[in-house]
Amino acid sequence: MSASSDALDVLSTWRDLPRVQQPTWPDEGHRAEVSARLRSAPPLVFAGEVDQLRDRVAAAARGEAFVLMGGDCAETFADSTADRIRNKIRTILQMSAVLTYGASMPVIKMGRMAGQFAKPRSSDTETVDGVTLPTYRGDAVNGFAFTEESRRPDPERLWKMYTTSSSTLNLLRAFTTGGFADLREVHAWNQGFISGHGYDRYERIAHDIDKAVRFMAACGYDFEALRQVEFYAAHEALLLDYEEALTRIDSRTGEIYDCSGHFLWIGERTRQLDGAHVAFLSTVNNPIGVKLGPDASVDDALRLIDRLDPDRVPGRLMFVARMGAAKVRDRLPALVQGVRDAGAQVAWVTDPMHGNTITSSNGYKTRRFEDILDEVTGFFEVHRALGTVPAGLHMELTGDDVTEVLGGSGEIDEIGLERRYETLVDPRLNHQQSLELAFLVAEMLGTD
Ligand code: PEP
Ligand code: CO
Repeated sequence: MSASSDALDVLSTWRDLPRVQQPTWPDEGHRAEVSARLRSAPPLVFAGEVDQLRDRVAAAARGEAFVLMGGDCAETFADSTADRIRNKIRTILQMSAVLTYGASMPVIKMGRMAGQFAKPRSSDTETVDGVTLPTYRGDAVNGFAFTEESRRPDPERLWKMYTTSSSTLNLLRAFTTGGFADLREVHAWNQGFISGHGYDRYERIAHDIDKAVRFMAACGYDFEALRQVEFYAAHEALLLDYEEALTRIDSRTGEIYDCSGHFLWIGERTRQLDGAHVAFLSTVNNPIGVKLGPDASVDDALRLIDRLDPDRVPGRLMFVARMGAAKVRDRLPALVQGVRDAGAQVAWVTDPMHGNTITSSNGYKTRRFEDILDEVTGFFEVHRALGTVPAGLHMELTGDDVTEVLGGSGEIDEIGLERRYETLVDPRLNHQQSLELAFLVAEMLGTD
C-alpha cells in the first residue's frame, strides 16, 4: 500500500469543515511533523482484513452472524501490558463462546482495542479547587494527572498511540492464532466461572455447551483447525489528524482504507451531517459505525446513510444504538422502522453502556448491571416486534476484577466501588459481569 498519492488529497477535505472534539495542539508545526512520520509508517491493518470484516458485518446485518465488540472506554499507555491485553482477549473469547452457543451463529469478535486512546468530552476544561485546566482527552492527546504540564496536548502522543496500537495488535494476533483461542480451553475457563458462587442459573447452558463440545470431539471434529480465530480491532475515529495520517491506498484496487484499525466508528458527539468526521469517514472503505443516542431522528439516520453508504454496500454501515434503558423501547422502533422502510441494509448493534451512566451517592461515575441488561432486553424486544435483526453487542469491559459497575451476581454495591475503581473515563463491566451478561444474552438469543 502506498501513502503518497493524489487520491489522498480527497481525505483532506474535512479540514475545511466544522470540526468538534479536536485538541488544540500548542505547536501546529510539531503536529504536522508527527503526521508526516505517521504517513510513512507501516499500516497497522491490511485492506484484505478490512474487506473480510465488511463481509462479516454484512452477514450480521442479515441475521447470519452476531457481533461482539468490547473493551475499555479508554485504553491507556500504562495499561497496555501483556497481562491486561491477554485478560481482555480472554474475556471476549469466553463471551463469544457462550454467545455462539446461544445464537447458533458465528460471533464476529472485535476489541475496542489497539487504537481506543482518544475521548470526546462534554467540557473543554476542568476546574479543581479553583484551578482550571484542559480536560483529559485520552492518552493520545494529554495526561490524566491534574497539572498544567500533563494536561497540555502533546502531538508526540499521536506517535505513542501508533506504537502502542502496534504492540497491542502484535499480541492480539499472536494470542488469536497461537492456540490461546482453542475452543476446548475457552470452554474450560467458562466452566471455572460457573463453579463460582451465585452462578447456578448458568449451569444448564454451560452443561449444554459441554455436551456440544464433547459431541463434536466424538464426531472427530478437527479442533486443531479451530485454534485460530478472527479478531478485529475497532476504535472511535476521533482524532482526524491521526486517522488521516494512517490512511493508505490499496495497491490492488486503488481504494482508500483507514489502516489505523479494521473498524471505526463516529461517536454521538461528532456525527454532525456537515461536519468533519462524517466527511472524513465517507472517503474510506472500512466498515464503519455511527452511535445514535435517544435524540437521533429518522431523518438523521437516513441522511447519515446517504452520506456514508450512498451505494448501499452490504456490511459498510452499522448503527450503534445507545438510548438508555428507560428510552430504548420508546425511541428505537421508529429509527429501525424508518431505516428498514428506506431499504437500507444497516447492522443494528446495541451499546447498553452510554445511555445508562449515573453518579453513585459516594461520587463514582458508574452504571447498574440491571440497567445494562434491561437496555439489551429492550433492544431485542424492539427487533422481535418489527421482525428486524438484532445484530450485536457493543460493551465497555475489562478482563480484570475491577469494581466499576454496580450489581451482577457479585453484588457490587456503592461501597464496593471503592475497592478497585480504576477507569479514567467510563465504568467497565469486570470479567465476571461480562461473562454473566454473555450468559443472559445467550438465553435471549436461544429463545428465537
Ligand atoms: C464511547 O463509546 O466511549 C463513547 C464516548 O460513546 P458515545 O459517542 O456513544 O457517547
Ligand atoms: Co465510554
